[in-house]
Amino acid sequence: MKKLGPIFEKNRAWAERVRTADPEFFDRLAAQQAPDFLWIGCADSRVPATEICGLAPGEMFVHRNVANLVLHTDFNCLSVLQYAVDVLQVEHVIICGHYGCGGVLAALDSQPHGLIDNWLRNIKDIFEAHSQYLTKISSVADRGDRLCELNVATQVSNLGSTTIVQDAWRRGQTLSIHGWIYGLKDGLLKDLDLCISDNQGLASIYRMGPLKPT
Ligand code: CO
Repeated sequence: MKKLGPIFEKNRAWAERVRTADPEFFDRLAAQQAPDFLWIGCADSRVPATEICGLAPGEMFVHRNVANLVLHTDFNCLSVLQYAVDVLQVEHVIICGHYGCGGVLAALDSQPHGLIDNWLRNIKDIFEAHSQYLTKISSVADRGDRLCELNVATQVSNLGSTTIVQDAWRRGQTLSIHGWIYGLKDGLLKDLDLCISDNQGLASIYRMGPLKPT
């Protein structure tokens, strides 16, 4: 516990700084959150969502897991997504991967890593789907980076085909899904130009038809 003491000291100093700059800040946030964005990113400690976007508390709803995956069986991620879309009515969901992602790289090697291999299996599936392209890349680092990008693209598609996003689009709700990647080496975000705002670009099997009039 002693070791964690500095965190509480820093927290008090931070709260004091915020309160000095904006005396109403905490009262306002305690009453309501109204973020414009949902961020789904990697759990990696080097990719702190709000900080790298220059946003303040209250401005971005955040879900993070190893290698920023959106799986249709992950009720944790889906619950965050549902709350963000249905209740908070965010208009932008950002899937953000990062180069040098340990989860993606671990999926590329053939070593056992324990329970997490069941999670990383999803990235191995992405590799397999693009293996013809990826195996032609001789540099291991480059191959990993391309897989990081392909992982983001896959998760954008996975997000678009969730019942939550499909239902939002059927209702006519404005909702865009963006695919970004972050560079650990330069601290910069890159837009991978994968944005989808409707069913165009999604395979037809995942599309739900328009709402029927009642
Ligand atoms: Co990562």
